[in-house]
This record gives sequence, C-alpha cells and structure tokens, in this order.
Amino acid sequence: MTQRFEGRVLLTTGGGSGLAAAVARRYSQEGGRVAVLDIDAGRAEAVAGQLPGSIGLACDVASEEGVRDAVARVLREFGRIDAAFNAAGHADFGPIEEWTLERWNRMLGVHLGGTFLVCKNVLPIMRAQGGGSIVNTASIAAITAQPFNAPYGAAKSAIAGFTRQLALEAAPLVRVNVVAPGRIRTGMTEPLWKMRGGGDIDKGQSQAANLNMLKRVGEADDIAGPVCFLLSNDAGFMTGATVVPDGGETLI
Ligand SMILES: NC(=O)c1ccc[n+]([C@@H]2O[C@H](COP(=O)([O-])OP(=O)(O)OC[C@H]3O[C@@H](n4cnc5c(N)ncnc54)[C@H](O)[C@@H]3O)[C@@H](O)[C@H]2O)c1
Repeated sequence: MTQRFEGRVLLTTGGGSGLAAAVARRYSQEGGRVAVLDIDAGRAEAVAGQLPGSIGLACDVASEEGVRDAVARVLREFGRIDAAFNAAGHADFGPIEEWTLERWNRMLGVHLGGTFLVCKNVLPIMRAQGGGSIVNTASIAAITAQPFNAPYGAAKSAIAGFTRQLALEAAPLVRVNVVAPGRIRTGMTEPLWKMRGGGDIDKGQSQAANLNMLKRVGEADDIAGPVCFLLSNDAGFMTGATVVPDGGETLI
C-alpha cells in the first residue's frame, strides 16, 4: 500500500457506514488520520476506533451549528484538514403526491445543505493551509431517471451542479470534485434490494446487478478507490469533475 496520505487529515460525513466508512479505512491504510462524522455517534466511534489516530464525532450535517462546531473540533484536534468527503445521506422514495414539504426539505437539507455546510466551513481552513481536496457525493440518480426518486435525484443533481460552480470559486488552491456512484451494496441499498426482491435480498441484488455492463453490484471499496484518488495528489489536475463509478449503467 502506498502512503499517499501520510501526515494528512480527512474529515468525512456519513462515515459510520457504507461508502464513507470504506473511504475512511482506505485513507487510514494509506497513512492518513480521519475524523469520522455521523449522525449516529456509536457508528462513527466504531469505525474511527479501528483507525490509528482517528476520531469519531456525532454530527447531523443538516445542522448549521452542528457542522460548524464539528469542523472546529476537528481542527482543534488535528491542527489541519486536508481533505473532506461529503457522503452523509439517506434514501427515501415514493410518489411525489405523497411527499410533504417537510420530507422534501429534509432530503435537500441533509444531502445538499450538508454538503454546502461542510464545504463552507472547510474551505477557509484549506485555503489558509495552501491547499486541499473536497469530494462530494451525487449518484447516477443525478444522470438518469429512476422510479419514484425525484426528490433524491433533485438533491443529487444539485450537488453535482454545486460542485462544478464551487470548483471555480475554490481554485486554484482547493480542488472540488463529485462522485456519482451506481448501485453499491451498503446499509442504504440492502433493505431496498430485500424489498424489491420480495424479501429475497439475493434476488433484489441480482436485479440491480443486471442493470450494468459488469453484471454485479458495486462494493463500498469500489468507491473508496476513486474517492481516494480524487482526494490525493494523483488527481492534482482534476477539479469540477464528475466521476461515475457505476459499472457502465448510465451508458446502456
Ligand atoms: N449505496 C449506493 O448505491 C449509493 C449510490 C449512489 C450514491 N450514494 C450516496 O452515497 C452516500 C453514502 O451512502 P451509503 O450507501 O454509504 O449509505 P449508508 O446508509 O451505508 O451510510 C450513510 C451514513 O450516513 C449517515 N447519515 C444519515 N443522515 C445523516 C445526517 N443527517 N448527518 C450525518 N450523517 C448522516 C448514516 O447514519 C449512515 O451511517 C449517500 O449520500 C448516498 O446517497 C449511495
């Protein structure tokens, strides 16, 4: 394993599970320390506890004060923040007529609002340090239409647009890119596949796998690789880019 992140610090949201937990583990394996933020403190601490020199913190990314205080605490703890991965989020589907404004606002507030709040708070720190890299999380739902998924698709499309705009504003010191994953096996998708498979998770998973060229669903480590690439100097000439690890699903 190379040590691309020696001496560096990553702040990740949603780090108690799934994609961000895999990114936290990879970042740590490659020499970095990680602040694992999650709305579920126990999950954040469980992940961070396995990673040398890392910490787990409770943080609801939809809370302005919560994000401000968590970022300040990470800076106090580590003295620097070199990278941020915004991945906190939840799935919520249904016919649009059934959506209340409150439910819609929560979708937008967690995914888009949380991404905004973390970017806003880490950007001045990264600039003052002379550089940094942020990766936001969209989804293939930002690119293709999916049944009863309009609010999630709206949030994810907005994150992709926000990333492109912010990349210009953050340059030249800070790079901002977005990852738009396909169907990845995590705590978010497993219940969904069980439901779609009529109680049979393997059936639901193989339906999802059949939608892409590679005929398998992704694992969290399939996303950790591209995200850590974007967070590293290997992607030093990339900013404002949308990277789509989806097994080719959006091309067919
Ligand atoms: N799994 C997929 O197939 C897939 C595909 C495309 C995009 N995504 C996106 O990737 C991100 C991570 O999802 P995942 O699949 O790893 O799901 P996951 O459920 O395994 O992990 C999400 C984590 O976010 C945390 N979280 C939820 N709301 C939060 C909040 N308000 N503040 C802080 N933490 C919060 C949860 O507690 C959980 O630990 C999400 O933004 C999701 O929309 C996932």
